[in-house]
Amino acid sequence: MNILLAGGSGFIGSYLCRTLLGMHHNLMVLSRNPSQARQHLPKEVSLSEWNGLTTHALEQLLERTDAVINLAGAPIANARWTQARKSLLRNSRINRTKVLVDAMSRLSKDKRPGMFINASGVGFYGPQDVENISEQFPPGQGFLADLCVDWEKEAMRAEQYGIHVVLLRIGMVLGNNGGALSKMALPFRFFLGGPIAPGTQHVSWIHQEDLSQLVAWILETKHCRGPVNAVAPEVVTMQKFCHELGKVLDRPSWLPVPEFLLKIALGELATMMTTGQQVIPSIAQRHGFTFRYPNLEHALHSLFRELSQHP
Ligand SMILES: NC(=O)c1ccc[n+]([C@@H]2O[C@H](COP(=O)([O-])OP(=O)(O)OC[C@H]3O[C@@H](n4cnc5c(N)ncnc54)[C@H](OP(=O)(O)O)[C@@H]3O)[C@@H](O)[C@H]2O)c1
Repeated sequence: MNILLAGGSGFIGSYLCRTLLGMHHNLMVLSRNPSQARQHLPKEVSLSEWNGLTTHALEQLLERTDAVINLAGAPIANARWTQARKSLLRNSRINRTKVLVDAMSRLSKDKRPGMFINASGVGFYGPQDVENISEQFPPGQGFLADLCVDWEKEAMRAEQYGIHVVLLRIGMVLGNNGGALSKMALPFRFFLGGPIAPGTQHVSWIHQEDLSQLVAWILETKHCRGPVNAVAPEVVTMQKFCHELGKVLDRPSWLPVPEFLLKIALGELATMMTTGQQVIPSIAQRHGFTFRYPNLEHALHSLFRELSQHP
């Protein structure tokens, strides 16, 4: 397949590119800064500059594309959610998705990509205490939930133009080349690790290899349409997550991070860490996707083993 990835130079995208290249797909990544993106991507991946605007060049690329994967967006947890930051988080996702969908809609029917996979997050469900949240659950409340709802709505418009849309509601991705895990592991390495309060909040996570394989499987089988929860089958509490992390790193998980301190340091962003949701990969499993890392202990072991072999 000829696959176009927007935001394909990041944590998820760079790993996904390696997986898809291994399956002999042709990849084109759209980036705001191709020379910087080049440092994260294998030489077989083509790069094209894109600043999120509609251009003739974008339409020409889309004409030669079988599937589009959109991962672009400013990092959610890198800075306090001021009004300006919230606008950036929304615009960098929703506007780019709109431009991509508009550009695809302008192509003649026979030249449109067949599939559009758009990132979203388990934040769609908002903070929840209920068990087994499948794709049928309604959206929750709060800034992240609202962002995901509007982002998904924009992506779903592509269905009107005969394009098969998949919305990946991604959980916390565990990987070695970035993401939350290295940040969470750091205090543990200095014997200062512990769960973020209250500890009972649920963490829906996925190993980066399973996420990439899930995307490849969606592209190949075309079984799924609409929302797909991209999370491992085993959901854990924050307490259990940190306990397993400590075990794998051979460090204690004893020093809880108090909620009030996080709120002082991070403001509203702290709620993303102090609350959670128990999401299950209902659709992926129903259609027969098999997770290589369904279990957290196994996933963490594989990642830290890999890190000790290739530091
Ligand atoms: N990682 C997770 O655990 C996780 C969980 C749930 C959902 N997601 C979602 O999945 C998507 C990919 O995640 P990721 O972890 O790979 O993110 P990432 O590493 O931050 O990469 C996203 C890409 O978006 C582009 N980007 C960054 N800032 C931007 C801005 N201000 N405006 C437009 N584009 C910008 C960058 O590409 P260029 O610099 O090359 O343009 C970057 O490579 C994101 O939308 C994220 O919200 C991630």
